[in-house]
Amino acid sequence: MALERTFSILKPDATRRNLTGLINAKIEAAGLRIVAQKRVHMTRAQAETFYAVHKERPFFGELVEQMSAAPVVVQVLEGENAILRYREVMGATNPEKADAGTIRKEYALNMGENSVHGSDAPETAAQEIAQWFAGNEIVG
Ligand code: TYD
Repeated sequence: MALERTFSILKPDATRRNLTGLINAKIEAAGLRIVAQKRVHMTRAQAETFYAVHKERPFFGELVEQMSAAPVVVQVLEGENAILRYREVMGATNPEKADAGTIRKEYALNMGENSVHGSDAPETAAQEIAQWFAGNEIVG
């Protein structure tokens, strides 16, 4: 299969606890290559746009609050089957249900502060990458 790219965020709960390097080590050990990376502090508006699909959900306000409360690290990951592979490495949304060895099982605090985001499909991956990176910032 051809190389695929996915979009990743190391969320505020992770950057606050200085987990960037430990999470990146898990990403790289899983065979995913970090081909773009930068640290940004999302505005509320950026967080609202990013999670617009959830705007009617009861947790939306808190999610936006948490995502804009501290810096995040946004990334593009490349590898075979990168979208699915990263979802496996991340583990389930609810860390209590995440498999042993996954990022969320090891590091997430709770459902909202679950340390990482990864795209769920090729269309959203392309959209999310374009929202955060210019083409020349991605070096494969
Ligand atoms: P979702 O896209 O369903 O999960 P994932 O991040 O695994 O793709 O939800 C986006 C984020 O919203 C999720 O990472 C944490 C937050 N969230 C809650 O706080 N409560 C919830 O009940 C759900 C479903 C998500």
